[in-house]
Amino acid sequence: MQQYYELMRKCFQLARLGEGKTSPNPLVGCVVLNIQGEIISTGFHAKYGENHAERDALLKIPKDAAKDGTLIVNLEPCSHYGKTPPCADLIIEYGIKKVVIAMRDVNPIVAGNGVQKLKNAGIEVVENVLENEARMLNEVFITNMLEKRVFVALKTATTLDGKVATKTGSSKWITSEKARAEVRNIRAKYDAILTSSSTVVADNPTMEHNVKIILDRNLKTDFDSSNIYKDGRVFVFYNENLPNNIEKENIQFIKCPVIENKLDISFVLKTLFELGIRSVLVESGGVLNGSFIDYVDKIYHFIAPKVIGDNSAKSAFDGKNILEISESKVFKFEDMKSFEPDILLTYTVK
Ligand SMILES: NC(=O)c1ccc[n+]([C@@H]2O[C@H](COP(=O)([O-])OP(=O)(O)OC[C@H]3O[C@@H](n4cnc5c(N)ncnc54)[C@H](OP(=O)(O)O)[C@@H]3O)[C@@H](O)[C@H]2O)c1
Repeated sequence: MQQYYELMRKCFQLARLGEGKTSPNPLVGCVVLNIQGEIISTGFHAKYGENHAERDALLKIPKDAAKDGTLIVNLEPCSHYGKTPPCADLIIEYGIKKVVIAMRDVNPIVAGNGVQKLKNAGIEVVENVLENEARMLNEVFITNMLEKRVFVALKTATTLDGKVATKTGSSKWITSEKARAEVRNIRAKYDAILTSSSTVVADNPTMEHNVKIILDRNLKTDFDSSNIYKDGRVFVFYNENLPNNIEKENIQFIKCPVIENKLDISFVLKTLFELGIRSVLVESGGVLNGSFIDYVDKIYHFIAPKVIGDNSAKSAFDGKNILEISESKVFKFEDMKSFEPDILLTYTVK
């Protein structure tokens, strides 16, 4: 099994080339070896609707080149007709002798059927190679398929004392240009970004993305001049009891129930899933972050080596008011990266 680790990691790297473009499909990369064990082709799923990774890799080579060779792919090959014909059929057609996969597909149409089809054709299938990493790579797809809901990531950037802004609202910039460039990369991985009315008013951010979601209960943001509304497709959630005559070509206004003076986040997420949005990155201040803490799957926390030192300055998460440390919300460490002088810590739910 270990002899396939490096090749499977290569599949992960190839798969990541499709990041942000394959939704609602998974990220998949593929490596093809000839009978001598040499790499003769690679491929990846570049975009929703385009070829799957196995098809992409195989169609680049003549049929006989891969005869009795090995195909390595991070997800079980599909066995059904979707936007493209089944990859398992093409693998069989090419005379591949062994298929190495990291995980079975969680899509009920495929789950196990792809492996079975290959085995029925006499192909050896090696399974579960670097399965945990493969599951992390496709965490969005797995959540969507198994739980039928939006994957929620949250990004916050704080000082050493956990502050996102001073008490006057000054927040530009807590982190360095290097860290902020990484934020743009993170945004690109998700189907949409989500922020609050307060952050739009305080910062007038642009938040480069094609799909933006604003939670604005009382429609208090300036829909004509705020940068966030200037381009892309925007969904604004607001109090369902409020009259609204605002019309803007790129903005869809969505009525939302209100619970204890706050927009109902469960309703927001359910609606986004119905609209076809499969993952969202929350980028707001501490109040909305605090409301999202029970819904997040992943946290990106940038920390800058700065101190504000004021207990009335705004914190990254507010409103939970936990009194016992044993009752606090606990996350699981995933990764740490350096964007000097700042660091990025990534957490997932426990
Ligand atoms: N460092 C960072 O990563 C970062 C990122 C973004 C913002 N910021 C800073 O954060 C500051 C704003 O923070 P903040 O804590 O005052 O505001 P916030 O958390 O950005 O937004 C809070 C507002 O969101 C609206 N909201 C809608 N639905 C909600 C819900 N279910 N739960 C909670 N709020 C909901 C509410 O306003 P309505 O009821 O009026 O809709 C609420 O007042 C700004 O100064 C900005 O610079 C920092």
